[in-house]
This record gives sequence, C-alpha cells and structure tokens, in this order.
Amino acid sequence: MSSDASKTTFTLEQLKLHSQSDDCYLLLHGKVYNVTEFLDEHPGGDEVILAETGKDSTEAFEDVGHSDEARELLEKMFVGNFEGTVTDDKPGTKVLTPNGPVPVEEVKAKAKEAASSGSSISYFLPITFFVGYLAWRYFQ
Ligand code: HEM
Repeated sequence: MSSDASKTTFTLEQLKLHSQSDDCYLLLHGKVYNVTEFLDEHPGGDEVILAETGKDSTEAFEDVGHSDEARELLEKMFVGNFEGTVTDDKPGTKVLTPNGPVPVEEVKAKAKEAASSGSSISYFLPITFFVGYLAWRYFQ
C-alpha cells in the first residue's frame, strides 16, 4: 500500500461507516485509527471499543488512563485525520473545539450564556431606581 495516512481525512459520516467488529475505526485526539485487528487483543475487551465507534472516543480512552505502551500501539493503526467537527448533537457527544473535545451541552450552554450576557443591565436599572426611592423616602 502506498497511501499516505497523514493526508487522508475522515468526516463523521465516513467514520460511522466503520462501526462493526469486522471493520472498526476509532476517533482519538482528532486522529482516526483502524482498530479492527486489535479488537481481539484489547485487554479491556472488544465491547468497550465497539461502544465508542462513530463518535469521539478520546474521553473514554483517557478516562481509563491508558499506558504509554497502549499509546504506542496506536501509531501503526493510524489511517487518517478527522476533518471538521462532530456535529451530531445527541446528549453526551463531543464537539471538537480548538481546545479539544467538549461535551455538546457545554458548548450550547456557553453559547446561551454569551447570548444573554446583555441582560445584567435589566437587573441593574430597577435596583438603582429602588435604592434611589428608598433614599428619597429616608430623607423626607
Ligand atoms: C485503539 C485504542 C485502544 C488501545 C490501543 C488500547 C489499549 C489498551 C491496553 C494496551 C490496555 C492494557 C493496559 C494499558 O497498557 O494501559 C488497555 C486496557 C483497557 N482499555 Fe483500552 N485501548 C484502546 C481503546 C479503548 C477504549 C476506547 C476504551 C473504552 C472505554 C478502552 C478501555 C479499556 C479498559 C477498561 C482497560 C482495562 C482493562 C483491565 O485492566 O481490565 N480502551 N487498553
């Protein structure tokens, strides 16, 4: 094979096409790995890996605290880079941001927060008037 994996890119849709035990890809840290041959050898079993297909499995992989040896195994399974963002916004899925994978709920909450940040003025004005009114009453 002469294909250069570092120049191959995968979209989420393409990644999802490789979610079976006889054709299994994983997305870790923005890179795509063909783990089909490794499924039977995985010390944690094949089921945990199959459950992580078709999405960003970085967090599941890191939560286990995999060793350096586990990370070295990845190199020879590398088949290409992940392109774009994980747009599937089912709860629990991750969105790939420049800071790494972030739960989609967090991204949405931040966007909401940013959209409503102008609302603090709507608290400030009535309070100012109320305090002013109390001061006026006090000095009568
Ligand atoms: C291609 C990706 C992966 C590779 C190369 C890999 C490799 C390994 C290796 C070598 C171990 C033995 C302990 C160690 O050296 O850290 C291990 C253990 C384990 N892995 Fe993975 N792993 C991969 C993906 C995953 C994923 C996606 C999960 C999902 C949660 C997972 C869950 C586990 C668990 C639970 C163990 C502990 C097994 C035990 O000690 O009973 N692994 N893995």
